[in-house]
Amino acid sequence: MNEKVDFKGSVILNPVPVVLITSKNKEGKENVFTVAWTGTVCTKPPMLSISVRPERLSYEYIKETMEFTVNLPTSKMTKAVDYCGVRPGRKFDKIQEMNFTMKEGTNINVPYIDECPISIECKVKSIIPLGTHDLFIADVVGSHVDSTLMDEKGKIHFEEADLITYCHGEYFKMDKHPLGKFGYSIAKKPIAMKDSAKSIEKENNTDTTKVKDLSKDRPRKKNNNYKSSNASKKRNSSNNKHKNSRKNTTSTRRKTK
Ligand SMILES: Cc1cc2nc3c(=O)[nH]c(=O)nc-3n(C[C@H](O)[C@H](O)[C@H](O)COP(=O)(O)O)c2cc1C
Repeated sequence: MNEKVDFKGSVILNPVPVVLITSKNKEGKENVFTVAWTGTVCTKPPMLSISVRPERLSYEYIKETMEFTVNLPTSKMTKAVDYCGVRPGRKFDKIQEMNFTMKEGTNINVPYIDECPISIECKVKSIIPLGTHDLFIADVVGSHVDSTLMDEKGKIHFEEADLITYCHGEYFKMDKHPLGKFGYSIAKKPIAMKDSAKSIEKENNTDTTKVKDLSKDRPRKKNNNYKSSNASKKRNSSNNKHKNSRKNTTSTRRKTK
């Protein structure tokens, strides 16, 4: 057993998602800010939560309309994610400065960021004051998904979306290669897994008997009903260019989330 240190400082639940929240007030003013305290809270009905400090402009907008959109950013948007989390909307027009393409929402009156491959539209059900932050619990009323991430069966391949996570003050790229699949540890038949997962299991000296090769390319959805945006095409073509994006990423440890 490793020796453990009794750490009492703060919540050290890491890593967490980092997302861009868009909102629009009753006068039609739009805003965007960065949130890391977010999570799924219910499957049926689909619900998620965000924790927001009352002093944020976004707090004011969301409370006014009880609507917001969660936009999942890619690794090449990391600098914009950080910027939207350190500049207040009362002083800066972050949407214009970041040159985001805003698309009208379909289920709520809040626009989503087209450069983000996935956007989730939410209606606030309840607000619970907790202390520094208020917890906004919301129903998911619709989502926009980049069509290039969907396969023939309608499965969303998040691993190909180049998403980022936030871990103790720093941003990280999500690994493309899964370590396992839901339920693979108890599967009777071998579950298809990529070579990378096999080698990790070998390295860790864990059970590889339930693992088989997944060498064939996944069939992609052709002629689907989803409209492919220019942003998503651009994203795919520039994915390789951004392999070293971590080198360029500014990472600031913030105490004020
Ligand atoms: C990585 C990161 C995560 C953050 N997470 C949260 C959060 O979960 N809740 C929150 O209220 N503020 C969070 N912030 C701070 C706000 O995004 C920041 O104060 C922002 O400027 C508020 O914008 P607004 O005043 O335009 O709404 C975070 C900032 C960063 C950089």
